[in-house]
Parts: sequence; C-alpha cells; structure tokens
Amino acid sequence: MSTTRRRFAVVAAAAIALAVPLAVQTANAATTPSAVPAGAAAVPLAFTPAQILAGVQANMTTAKKVNSKPHINTQTRAQNVNVFQVASGVFAYSSGMAIDTDGSDSDPDPDHQGETTWQDSNGQALGAHRVPFYVLGDDCWDRTTPCPHFFYREHNITGRQFALIFFNGKVIGSIFGDTQTANDQTTSDNDSRELGEASVKAAQLLGIPSSGTSGGVDSGVTVVMFSGSSWVVNGTNANLNTNAQGMVQRALDSLGASFGGGGTTPPTTPPPATTRFEAEAGTLSAGGTVDSNHAGFTGTGFANPANAVGAFVDIPVTAKTTGTKTLNIVYSDGTTVARPATISVNGTSHGTVNFPVTANWDTWSTVSLSVPMTAGANTVRIAGTTAVGAANIDSVFLS
Ligand code: GCU
Repeated sequence: MSTTRRRFAVVAAAAIALAVPLAVQTANAATTPSAVPAGAAAVPLAFTPAQILAGVQANMTTAKKVNSKPHINTQTRAQNVNVFQVASGVFAYSSGMAIDTDGSDSDPDPDHQGETTWQDSNGQALGAHRVPFYVLGDDCWDRTTPCPHFFYREHNITGRQFALIFFNGKVIGSIFGDTQTANDQTTSDNDSRELGEASVKAAQLLGIPSSGTSGGVDSGVTVVMFSGSSWVVNGTNANLNTNAQGMVQRALDSLGASFGGGGTTPPTTPPPATTRFEAEAGTLSAGGTVDSNHAGFTGTGFANPANAVGAFVDIPVTAKTTGTKTLNIVYSDGTTVARPATISVNGTSHGTVNFPVTANWDTWSTVSLSVPMTAGANTVRIAGTTAVGAANIDSVFLS
C-alpha cells in the first residue's frame, strides 16, 4: 500500500476560501486519435470527446450525486469535490490534479513511494512515468456503510479500472492505479476523502505540468470511471498505456449510446449516419428480436438473432461505389462458444466467418471480411450456422 500525498504546502484557510470554483474545460476537438482493442478492425470515430464531456457535465446534477459529504480537492485542499453517477455504472468527478510519482524507478519527490496499491498483470508496481493512472481514497473515511463519500469498493470498481480523463480539450484513457492513504493516518494532508491525483504519465498526456514537486493543476480535470469487470485493463508497465488508450473510443461510444438512448439526459449529436449501419434497422428471421439489454451498443439497440441454425439478420448497407470493400461487423458473444455465421451480400454467400467469444454480452468486438458491394443499396445477411444462431449484432460498417 502506498501513501500518496498532495504535493503543495498546505493552503491557508483564507486561500481555501478563495479557491477557484470547479470549472471544467470544454473539449473542442478530439485530440486523441481513435484506437481500438487488439484484434478489432479500425472503427470510424463516432462520438467525439467534446460531445461526451458535454453529456457528462449535463449529468453532474444534485439528483445524481453519489456522495453525501464532499471530497477534498487534493491539489487545492478545497472541500468541494463531488462524484456523480452519469450513466449506469459510470461515475464522474471534476477536481484538480496533483501529481503521483509512485512506482517509478527514482524521483526527487520526497513523497515518492516505491510501490503502488495496484500492480500490472505481472505483479509489478505501476510506474507513474509510464502508466496513466488515477488515485482514489483507500477506505471509507467515515467507517459507515454505505459510505457518505464515494468509496470505490461500493461501486464495482477495483484495481486497473478504466477511466476517461478530460482536460483542456483532450481526453485520455487511464486506470485506477493507486490510493490516497487510509484514514488511520494522523497527518491532515493524507486523507482518503481526497480526490484529484493522477500519475506523471496522465499529466504528461494531458499537457499538465507533471513534476511531483511543482506540477499539477487546481481545477478543470474531469475523471469518468467505468465500473465492472469488462472495464478492468490488463497489461504490463510496457503496454498498459497503449491498452488504455485503445479503449477510449469504445468508452466514448458506450457513454454516447447511454446519453442518446436514456431519454432522461440531453442527447448528444449522433454518430455520422453514413459510416455505420445499425443492425436494429434490419430484419430478423423468425424468433429474432431487437434488444437493448446489454450495454455498449451504438444506436438504439442491437439485433439478437434466434437461437437456431440459419437464423439471420438482414442489414441494409449503402455503399458509395461499386467494388470490393471490407465489411466490419460489430458483435457480442457472451457465451463460451464461438458463433460462426455465413455472410451474404445481396443473396450471394461470401463464406462463413468465425465470431469468437467476447468477455461478456456487454463487450463488443469486430470481425471483418472482404465482400463485393454495389453502389447504393445492399443487403448484408448474417446467418448463424449452429443451433445457437448468430451472435448479437450491433452494427456493420465498410472500410
Ligand atoms: C442471452 C443474452 C442474449 C443472447 C442470448 C443468446 O440470453 O442475454 O442477448 O442473444 O443469450 O445466447 O443468443
């Protein structure tokens, strides 16, 4: 267990009173390129960071506040940070950023610790200079359940849990890497109620001064945490940064789908209609349904073909030109057995594609194949070849 501490001298009471109110920067443009999990085909940009940050901020309302007592901004000490549930299983807060140097090989910061609370997949401490990680309180300060503060263990969050961090027009992927010390400490500046600390690497990626002794920023950092096992990032110090960045677009799209489909939140601008063709706009053979009971889909739902040999979904796809295209199919198979399916375009079969299992029904992957398309309207049929039918199909797109 490491002790992480704020890096600035204690701010005088008068200064606390004058502390800058939380002001979240609006992301004006996507500055992080789209990236996809290993093995998946490139997915065109759908929701932008600016759209999603606007949706997150619109959901940071009193009604959605999780904590009943405020957290402390690690950098400024102002006790004015709150955590909001902005979508199902997704929690967000805005604060400053103090710089955590723990786990790195050596650092002049006197607070530097050799260990981090969480480790990489090889059991090594997370290197603050290599892995973009964020910090949460180690325990419930109040020692009551439910905790009046946001306590990660009550929200299906564990080590290496994925989060988006927004700052000044940028967004990055990050993981839960370290904890703010437990409340059995006696010094006032080591407090599990603190929120607003992240690693050197996170600061560097966001353009925030990253020195452990003089770096950080007072406000404008929004951390959006995705709970549940499918959002735990695996990898080593060598590739955790890449792996986390590879999840950014999926996280943006997942939130975008939540905001667009929930009905209670301001809809964000939908993804470009010309690049993605939603399976729910198609036709299912007998027994198939359009469902929305598994998270992470785009559009308004996904196609759940019947569990039968030959059960299919037909999806209308518009091609700009005639020719051979890469057809990418976004699907989910939360079972333990792959679901091969035959792919036809305009009534002609182009072979059977394996649809490998995904981590669960909320995880979406992509398979791709080359098919001929005709300029204008086409119909793509995905027909399962086994008794369990085809996988759940979210959408298809051409590349
Ligand atoms: C589960 C799952 C469905 C899926 C089905 C299947 O019921 O919730 O989304 O389509 O299994 O095995 O096909």
